[in-house]
Amino acid sequence: MLNIALPKGRLGEKVYAMFARAGFECPAILEDNRRLYFENEALGLRYFWVKPSDVAIYVERGAADIGVAGKDILLEYAPEVYELLDLGVGKCRMCVAAPKGYHDDMRKTLRVATKFSHIASDYYASLGRDIDIIPLNGSIELAPILGLSDVIVDLVETGTTLRENDLAVVETIVPISARLIANKASYAFRNEAIGTVVRGLAEEAQI
Ligand code: PRP
Repeated sequence: MLNIALPKGRLGEKVYAMFARAGFECPAILEDNRRLYFENEALGLRYFWVKPSDVAIYVERGAADIGVAGKDILLEYAPEVYELLDLGVGKCRMCVAAPKGYHDDMRKTLRVATKFSHIASDYYASLGRDIDIIPLNGSIELAPILGLSDVIVDLVETGTTLRENDLAVVETIVPISARLIANKASYAFRNEAIGTVVRGLAEEAQI
């Protein structure tokens, strides 16, 4: 069995549809229940749904041979995996955002609220800017509104969340999309099976 970790949620459903179109279907997965793993014995595939931010851990540790993770997670946690393909879905960008009319006061340490501490630290280190990271797990947009931070570093897709909270993009740090990743040992020992999936998905990738 080739074990495949998919990110639970809307992105994962889109990604599964790409696998299915490429010939790696597993119809049971579409049944609306709470089961977390599904097998297609004929094709030798086992899919499982995991929290999007956990996919890289399953793959890094070999519980999954391959999986689909956002580039944001790969940049933030730098897991020891191979990145095989940009699937071209789940497109968004990692941005610095702040209240409209915001100006950086270089005399002060910048307070940055984010779920992506490493990405934010690396970005500001590259600018030589002193920052204080305020690590949060969600609703990041609230931080500058309540004076908890000066700016946020977060994902922006449509921009609606920022707009509805009177924030605006200050800078784009990096474009983000979903990537096919592989466990390093699996890639060596199951190269043929993984190669078949990569070639099939490359045809479907929305680049
Ligand atoms: C992300 C991000 C923003 C929002 C941006 O949150 O943190 O809050 O999406 O999308 P938009 O530009 O289309 O409004 P997500 O929905 O992934 O949930 P989270 O709060 O758990 O991060």
